[in-house]
Amino acid sequence: MALHRTDSAASLTQPVPLPGEPAQFEQSLRPRTLTEYIGQSKIKGHLLMHIQAAKGRQEPLGHTLLHGPPGLGKTTLAFILAREMGANIRITSGPTLEKPGDLASILSNLQQGDALFIDEIHRLRPVVEEMLYSAMEDYALDLVIGKGPTARSMRLAIKPFTLIGATTKAGSMSAPLRDRFVNQFKLSFYDIPEMQLVVERSAEILAMAVDAPAAHRIAKSSRFTPRIANRLLRAVRDYAQVQGRERIDIAAVEHTLDALEIDEDGFDATDRLILSAIVDMFNGGPVGLSTIAAVLADEEETIEDVYEPYLLQQGYMQRTPKGRVATKKAYEKLGRVLPEGMQATMFEG
Ligand code: ADE
Repeated sequence: MALHRTDSAASLTQPVPLPGEPAQFEQSLRPRTLTEYIGQSKIKGHLLMHIQAAKGRQEPLGHTLLHGPPGLGKTTLAFILAREMGANIRITSGPTLEKPGDLASILSNLQQGDALFIDEIHRLRPVVEEMLYSAMEDYALDLVIGKGPTARSMRLAIKPFTLIGATTKAGSMSAPLRDRFVNQFKLSFYDIPEMQLVVERSAEILAMAVDAPAAHRIAKSSRFTPRIANRLLRAVRDYAQVQGRERIDIAAVEHTLDALEIDEDGFDATDRLILSAIVDMFNGGPVGLSTIAAVLADEEETIEDVYEPYLLQQGYMQRTPKGRVATKKAYEKLGRVLPEGMQATMFEG
């Protein structure tokens, strides 16, 4: 898979990996084919079929939107799609594309069948986003030349390509953009057996033997998220290596997770703080995201994008129009006495 990095548009595209990813580690553990990719089996099935059909027609794959919580493998799938199509992939992100010209220069440099990956596509500026509409639909760029009364519009053809968009917030995308993706897939959290396979596969690539109970324990604490499992595995590997151990056993995992203050449910100190802020300071809520962020001295975006998806999905908190509310599960997790209303629902349930 070739990456274009030398042409004029290269400064707007980023080399692999994307910012915020633990570089080489994640990179080397990324599965490179759909067969290697564990989990998301329904999506893989759909993608295989679409790839086969597009190849049969000798056309690029239809524009594809991948959405879901961070760390589940959207970027990895984008790379796999390009590879399986035999296409080059160019990578950029919503916030990187500041001006329509930034996007125009990338699009006009694409080769026939290339994939363009736009991460965080919900963060595209509207003027940039508008340029994508004709590019996606007609493989054309509508450019405005000049200013004022003498301005002219011009249509420029570009090569047929596949746009692969990734977002953690599909709901924040405009309908016109979302509707232009013919394929739309929501990645979901993995299950424990899948997570254990991810850990075992990664350990093998890292040339570190891992006992099954140890892999299972990492899987349990990984918030059903491969990126987190790989991060934990790396931490345990460092510990095992420094201890001169040849394999990762359950004791090494438990020692490392204890040191990181990560429990069996994958909670870290911040998760516990979020729940205890709602339960102890605000009587279980509702409490606004901005208040929680202020209490934790953290950014709203981090809490919303990194911590909340798991807490919501696992039923520790709920989002209501008035704010975040702690559930019975949150009280139990923190070992707090249930408020009376919640006790009633326990007997009803
Ligand atoms: N590493 C990270 N995500 C993975 C996945 N879904 N399958 C295999 N290895 C992975």
